[in-house]
Amino acid sequence: MSIRVLMVCLGNICRSPMADGLLRQKVANLQLNVAVDSAGTANYHVGAAPDKRMIKTGSQNGTPIDFLRARQFTRQDFHDFDYILVMDHSNYRNVFALAPDENAKSKVQLLLNYLPEENIEEVPDPYYGTAADFQYVYDLLDRATAAFISQLQKQTN
Ligand code: 4NP
Repeated sequence: MSIRVLMVCLGNICRSPMADGLLRQKVANLQLNVAVDSAGTANYHVGAAPDKRMIKTGSQNGTPIDFLRARQFTRQDFHDFDYILVMDHSNYRNVFALAPDENAKSKVQLLLNYLPEENIEEVPDPYYGTAADFQYVYDLLDRATAAFISQLQKQTN
């Protein structure tokens, strides 16, 4: 199997690069043939490294993301990826609005759909938050990326 997964948030400097780094690390550890990338719906931070606070939280928890650079989501991503996993409802609306057809629409999902037992649909934006908010986002994304991989493995086994 070769599967391509795109993580999407607003700025591509906090949530989606952390989700990207966590999923990359997990698929590498499991030697799965899954390509991972991330993008933002906005263009504010194109070319920038992830937010320093997200880099720090990642490194404190063993998941480096300092090598990632922000880019904006484009229509081409509907062709280049099989799964487009968004962090919140606003990202969902923005990405969905660009979908050219039903197949493209079917690729867009809230990442936290993979944690149905947790009563939360959106990964909160930590940008205006505290170190604890960044750690909360890390932990949530760690669980969600693990659940996503479990689901993939069930489908392909
Ligand atoms: P992200 O967080 O969507 O998780 O990358 C944000 C980063 C920057 C801004 C908003 C959200 N901003 O408005 O600059």
